[in-house]
Amino acid sequence: IQSNDLRTTPAKPFANYVDREAGLISREIFSNDTIYKAELERVFTKAWLFVGHESQVKNPGDFFTSRMGNESVILCRDQKGKLHVFLNTCRHRGMKVCQYDEGNTKQFVCPYHAWSYTTEGKLFGVPMYGALYEEHLDKEEWSLIEVAQLANYKGTVWATWDKDAPPLLEYLGDAKEHLDLALDGLNGVPGDTEVFAGVQKWIIPANWKVGAENFLGDTYHNPSHRSVDEIGIGPSAQSGKKGRRDDELAGAQHVWVNFPAGHGAHSAIQPSMLPYAEAYQDNPEVERYFRQCYEERQERMGDRSRLLPFVGTIFPNMGFNGRQPRSITVFHPHGPMHTEIWKWYLIDKQAPKEVRDILRHFFMRYQGPAGMTESDDIENWQMATEASAGPIARRYPYNYQQSLGQAGPHEMLAGNVSTQISEENPRTFYTRWTDYMDEKPWDHLMGNHDPVFVELNRSKA
Ligand code: FES
Ligand code: FE
Repeated sequence: IQSNDLRTTPAKPFANYVDREAGLISREIFSNDTIYKAELERVFTKAWLFVGHESQVKNPGDFFTSRMGNESVILCRDQKGKLHVFLNTCRHRGMKVCQYDEGNTKQFVCPYHAWSYTTEGKLFGVPMYGALYEEHLDKEEWSLIEVAQLANYKGTVWATWDKDAPPLLEYLGDAKEHLDLALDGLNGVPGDTEVFAGVQKWIIPANWKVGAENFLGDTYHNPSHRSVDEIGIGPSAQSGKKGRRDDELAGAQHVWVNFPAGHGAHSAIQPSMLPYAEAYQDNPEVERYFRQCYEERQERMGDRSRLLPFVGTIFPNMGFNGRQPRSITVFHPHGPMHTEIWKWYLIDKQAPKEVRDILRHFFMRYQGPAGMTESDDIENWQMATEASAGPIARRYPYNYQQSLGQAGPHEMLAGNVSTQISEENPRTFYTRWTDYMDEKPWDHLMGNHDPVFVELNRSKA
């Protein structure tokens, strides 16, 4: 496994940094500046990236400033109601044409020399145009730079800079079923969720892949959260530590599932359609809502309702959490050893005020920069990064041998499935990462040549 310092020379093949069969991954890919810059070029300008949620830009002129890789972009709904994603840079000298996190506007006016752009991205106003530019500047040619493709999946808005990328639905593949568990209403109505309580943003000193990998289903790190579990700060803080989170999982089969394009999830399957397990005894309104949703979902989805969510990652950097508190977490690259985490919370569109209140408090104490769970994770990621970046440490690969050879087909689920805690999800994720870094064609990036999935398809046929 490659371990030399490549801070000045990025060398292909990147496949040398990831030995999937042996379960070894070089520490170099989590700290090397040259590799980081290559990732921005080769991963983040190609892959579909989550940009924001349509509920953040409901009305014409609404915008939300987001990121794709390390670049600022504007998600905006134009005056006719169509969604766009623009690079947030003026075509004159590059100033950000939008300096706000979100808002509503008729035009983006550049503060530097005041060129202005419509919400459709067209260059509209150029000061002293007649006197200084008339003959030379064709406004039609100097629109804001727009992504090559944009797609809306159940309210989540995604974009890619690559016109040759496969359509989003194809890119998500069978990982959709797990992502749906976060995006659908608790009662099973498709995509019946909206963003709630603002976006939390904070910068942590660790590589972006560390967070993306954790959301693939690193269930093995539960010891990190033991203190949180023991004091009982779950969805219903008043009712104590146990409750529905555990009861509805009685006898469940946990699954760690990965997909050819690099996505992965940890979900669980109930042995049969279990009755609702009480969890909010202190709050009858809330209890009624969750019970009703649970029962409606069973009615709507039938046997498929046995599939229950935990977490997942859509390659490269979008994590989702389908259990309360449902959320989307994006790990924006911010340097080889820094990540800007953005967290969106999701809630049923129809959730009543009591439910919103209880979940908002749960979000605050459980997740985010001040939440008790996430601060456990970030302490680990920060110190692991510190202890991995030195010249001696970098010679030694990380161990990814957990449950090697255990994954395979599953009777109920698509994908490569392990029924025991497994590092197969990251093994697939990093294998796909090497394909992007080695600039393979889309067919490879979708994992169509991956021996694991070729074999899986053969065994299913
Ligand atoms: Fe925007 Fe000059 S940089 S108008
Ligand atoms: Fe954690």
